[in-house]
This record gives sequence, structure tokens and C-alpha cells, in this order.
Amino acid sequence: MPKYNDINPAEWKSYDDITTDSLWIIEKRDNSGAHNGDYHGNFVPQIPHQLFSRYTKRHDWILDPFMGSGTSLIEAQRMERNSIGIDLQENVVGDVAARIATEPANGCVATAHTGDSRTADIGQLLAAQGIEKVQFVIFHPPYWDIIHFSEDNNDLSNTATLDDFLASFGEVIDNTTQYLEKNRYCACVIGDKYADSQVIPLGFHCMNVFLERGFLLKAILVKNFGETKGKGNQQGIWRYRALTHDFYIFKHEYIFVFKKVK
Ligand SMILES: C[S@@+](CC[C@H](N)C(=O)[O-])C[C@H]1O[C@@H](n2cnc3c(N)ncnc32)[C@H](O)[C@@H]1O
Repeated sequence: MPKYNDINPAEWKSYDDITTDSLWIIEKRDNSGAHNGDYHGNFVPQIPHQLFSRYTKRHDWILDPFMGSGTSLIEAQRMERNSIGIDLQENVVGDVAARIATEPANGCVATAHTGDSRTADIGQLLAAQGIEKVQFVIFHPPYWDIIHFSEDNNDLSNTATLDDFLASFGEVIDNTTQYLEKNRYCACVIGDKYADSQVIPLGFHCMNVFLERGFLLKAILVKNFGETKGKGNQQGIWRYRALTHDFYIFKHEYIFVFKKVK
């Protein structure tokens, strides 16, 4: 089987930093270098770091269609991987380009683009880099409407219903994974939400959108979830509400890993 990472089986005992367990407890965000946690709704750099270690090689190309503050592009560059990011918000894209420029280039390309990932001409973005395929796609979509990222109607966080959200997410999957090399991997980071007195299992709904398209499910990883900026100072009230009602406070999110086999 062709190699999809740089792990040397003969040195398997030396990879203490690479996790192989399905439960990811990450206590502290990596805030080194250009990484910072300022963007509301970002993920910790350790998520792309672990995924890129397991599923990509040096100089591979990584696509992030929900780039946000560019956490995965920064991490890719640090790990000597090339990356292409797309986000709907022009101002966010400008910030990413400026922050990446503060990191050593490491002989890599990291390009940030403004666009709607459902319809963006990704073939053209790849052609501009002289490539036809990418070797990994990392998806970190809005968790439906939990955080409204913009006023833009094309923003997945502004979709009116769960079905609309999943349909739009499916369009992003189709528009991006057509450029994912066969037998390589993609991952989706997503949490659940609570509405109308019940859990909306967004994670499993999104997982199904991949399964319907014939991707192989390789992992369901559960990652702990720290205090968000929004809820940070409301711990007491949420504890009171949970204790006196019938729900639990979300403390985890999912990372689903898929293999493209057709
Ligand atoms: C959960 S955030 C991603 C955060 C990112 N992983 C980080 O660490 O900063 C989701 C992003 O998706 C973007 N977005 C929403 N709908 C989009 C669409 N149709 N096309 C491209 N980006 C979109 C939002 O602007 C937001 O920045």
C-alpha cells in the first residue's frame, strides 16, 4: 500500500507525541508562534497537528474549506506541508495571510482565499499551484447556527433548517473531495447542539453525509471541550440549569476520519 504518512514502523517506539487512542484530552491550547485563540469558533492547533502526523507526508497538499483563522494552514506550514484555505469572510482571509507571513515558510506554500466552498473553483486554485489533487481535506464547519460567523446568506451558520445545513455541507464535501486523491483521507471536526429541549446530534448527522457518499469511516474520535469564550463566565448558571433539569452540559466534540476509496 502506498504510504500516506512519514511514520517509520521500525521506529514505532519513538512517536510518543502521536496519539493512537480515540479519546483526546487536550488540556492546553498550543499558542506558540502565529497560533492564537482569538477567533471565536477556532480549533486548537493540536487537532490538525495530530491528523497531519497520521494522514499526511512532508510536502503533501492539505485543503481547508472552512479556514477561519487559518489554524490548519499555520500548522501545515510548520509541519512542512503545503496548504490551501478558503473562507467566506474576506477580512478573516486577510488576517490569515498576514499571520502566516510571520512564520518561517519552511519551503512550503500556504494560500488563503475568499470564497464560498460550495461553489469555489477549486480546480483553478490547484492549477495555480501546478497540482491536480490534494492529499488531505480538513473540515471544521460551523456547528450549524451555534455561532453566527457572518451576515452572509452563503454562510453555513445562517442556514434556516438542519436539512439546509446538511445539504450545504454536502455541497462543500462534493466540491472539495472531488480533488482528494483516491485512497487518502479527510476529517471532520464537529460538535452537537441542543435545541427545543433535545440533543441535535450534528456530529452523527454530518458523519452520515460522508457515509452516504461512500467514504469509509476510519475513526470516531472524542475530544474534550474547554470553556468557550461565550460560556466561560457562565459555568455556575449552566451547572444549575443541568442539575435542576434533565440535560448534560456538552464537554466533547467529534473528529471523524474518512478514507476516500472511490
Ligand atoms: C468553525 S469555523 C473554522 C475555524 C478554523 N478551524 C480555525 O481554527 O480558525 C467555520 C468557518 O467557516 C466559514 N464558512 C461558513 N460558511 C462558509 C462557506 N459557505 N464557504 C466558506 N467558508 C464558510 C466561517 O466564516 C467560519 O470562519
